[in-house]
Amino acid sequence: MQITAVSTSELKWEGETLALGVFEGDTECADLDKRLGGVLAEVMAEAEFEGKSGSSVVTRVGSSSPIRKVILVGLGKAEDWQLEGMRSAAASIARLAKQNYVKGLGVCLPPLESDNATASAIAQGIILALHSDRRFKSEPEEQKLKLETVEILGINDAGDAIAQAEALSSGTILARELVAAPANSVTPITLAETAQQLAADYGLELEILEKAECEKLGMGAYLGVAQASDLPPKFIHLTYKPQSTPRRKLAIVGKGLTFDSGGLNLKTGGSGIETMKMDMGGAGATLGAAKAIGQIKPDVEVHFIVAATENMISGHAMHPGDILTASNGKTIEVNNTDAEGRLTLADALVFAEKLEVDAIVDLATLTGACMVALGNNIAGLWSTDDTLADELKKAAEAAGEKFWQMPIEEKYFEGMKSQYADMKNTGPRAGGSITATLFLKQFVEKTPWIHLDIAGPVWADDTSGVNNSGATGFPARTLVHWVLS
Ligand code: BES
Ligand code: MN
Ligand code: ZN
Repeated sequence: MQITAVSTSELKWEGETLALGVFEGDTECADLDKRLGGVLAEVMAEAEFEGKSGSSVVTRVGSSSPIRKVILVGLGKAEDWQLEGMRSAAASIARLAKQNYVKGLGVCLPPLESDNATASAIAQGIILALHSDRRFKSEPEEQKLKLETVEILGINDAGDAIAQAEALSSGTILARELVAAPANSVTPITLAETAQQLAADYGLELEILEKAECEKLGMGAYLGVAQASDLPPKFIHLTYKPQSTPRRKLAIVGKGLTFDSGGLNLKTGGSGIETMKMDMGGAGATLGAAKAIGQIKPDVEVHFIVAATENMISGHAMHPGDILTASNGKTIEVNNTDAEGRLTLADALVFAEKLEVDAIVDLATLTGACMVALGNNIAGLWSTDDTLADELKKAAEAAGEKFWQMPIEEKYFEGMKSQYADMKNTGPRAGGSITATLFLKQFVEKTPWIHLDIAGPVWADDTSGVNNSGATGFPARTLVHWVLS
């Protein structure tokens, strides 16, 4: 599928299928209707189409017309029109184009901000909505995608916006596919192989620390989690370096539990153990961001870090109550083996800080508590640095991904006190996503830092906006926008 931008308006464009966005109460489209012999007014009246957001009609136009089919999508009220609506409208158009066997599509949506922003939003909406993951089906898709060309109409100069949208989308799709793949397909070993492939494809540097090297670095927290698995841990450190002196150095640290059984605090009845392949959502988005950054090539150095492992049970599993020593020397009483993500992140954060970067962002499917607080659409954000938090929020806004800043309430760390070790790994039930953050904070000394709890948004139950049901690839696009900012 090839996406291009052209300055042609919907009144001049000739091609197979024209997709047009229509605002509520603005359904006249007189000039275009005239051009198409009155078919628009007719079909809109027949379908009682009023331009409401989420509504649509598709019709065939007479064979003498310069256009063969028309897709109308409702955009809601003109005063509410924003880039997020643009991405969603483009996604709806793409789904309808697929259902209607469209080969050549012209898309006309009211522009916003700039030609660049408009073209990018439309391209992302189309690519992300059309992604369909059939890797684990024995049969190919019933209805193959026929779409070959997409022309975004009314754009004078999109610059490299479409190429950038393609890079962002490819990163999101990689993240989705890593998260959607089951734990017998994506393992610490295959995650390391994916990193290796990215390094080869985009000229990134790659260092994989094997278990022995992690031992040498004293990563007792990470290795404690890994010790019951039959699969070896793989500590992944992928680096993008620009040609010239970097404007900034950043680290992105993703939680990479390719399966979280809970350990001996086993996830029992109703705890969703069967969904725990997605516990590497942070790692998925981290590698997804690396894929996009590798293509976009900004003037920023970025370290992508994943302490990959499984959380399993066996005769050599951690016992609840074990005391571990992390690579910064701090000791942890593991009062719950199911709070494993923070143990792996502890050593990954210490490693990241040693790289002397300007900022660290970690992202993790860390707590059920964050889902209770913010639901499935919104991730939690904690930061030790307000400027950095604002940067990330702006990037999220540009990406169309939602975060809500939460407090770092130091007092709650009292709940993590251990009689014998420096801390426990879990506190009381109340404020569970905040105590998880306070735990992580013990492993970042001075670098400006953001923690993102993405347990909710990595997975979608339904198709909505650019997301199809299943893995979303959240928040790969926010990370890329942040790096570029
Ligand atoms: N991976 C889970 C968090 C999670 C739960 C993500 C549900 C997505 C959906 C994490 O490792 C975990 O088990 N957290 C525990 C922490 C508790 C033991 C303090 C939780 O949230 O219940
Ligand atoms: Mn867990
Ligand atoms: Zn987990």
